[in-house]
Amino acid sequence: MGKDVIIACDFSSAEAVFAFLDKFEGKKPFVKIGMELFYAEGPSIVRKIKERGHKIFLDLKLHDIPNTVKKSMAVLSSLDVDMCNLHAAGTSAMMTAALEGLTRPDGSRPLLIAVTQLTSTDEERMRNELLINEPIAEVVMKYAENARNSGLDGVVCSPLEAGIVHERCGKDFLTVTPGVRFADGDIGDQKRVMTPAAAKEIGSDYIVVGRPITAATDPVAAYEKCVKEFC
Ligand code: C5P
Repeated sequence: MGKDVIIACDFSSAEAVFAFLDKFEGKKPFVKIGMELFYAEGPSIVRKIKERGHKIFLDLKLHDIPNTVKKSMAVLSSLDVDMCNLHAAGTSAMMTAALEGLTRPDGSRPLLIAVTQLTSTDEERMRNELLINEPIAEVVMKYAENARNSGLDGVVCSPLEAGIVHERCGKDFLTVTPGVRFADGDIGDQKRVMTPAAAKEIGSDYIVVGRPITAATDPVAAYEKCVKEFC
């Protein structure tokens, strides 16, 4: 399982994302396409970026009844993405259906990663609005275990949780970790951050890095710095 840096391409148009990727010339970084870009440009943006030779994490966080998720995952799989995700809150019935939908006739499939509790949900809201009374760290770990037991490949989590996820779910269970910042960088709206080197140390498998690369004066140099520290 190779460690890699995934660039969060949080742009709102094809034009903006291509202007950004053009800077990389011969390099083909792994990129994350999120809802904003996907909803603005549709599936063709995935095909076009794939044609350029990039690996793609399609971050659409599916959550619906098992049959709907299964059929939707089959569509995403045919787009030839390398990684996609869903909400573990959809339960194991939805997660196993998702895996079935993703699996191509030849048995291959993209990696499937679960979102546990969104980092924007805090313990107070979880208790008061969702009526979940366990400590949030336990909820995150339980959802991670549900994902592993359903056959998924890993979870999106904070780099601070990567070590414990590996302890509870096994070292081969992937941790895909946003919230990465350079030691001398601006943390922006992220609260709990880690440097690429610290994320490597704690055992993250993939780091997802957005603004420290996309908003850098020299995005290629910032990307290379991440790769050098992390890979
Ligand atoms: O710009 P920045 O490095 O903060 O971008 C991180 C990316 O990871 C964004 O696309 C953000 O939506 C995503 N993400 C996150 N925290 C999570 C899940 C996803 O920052 N818990």
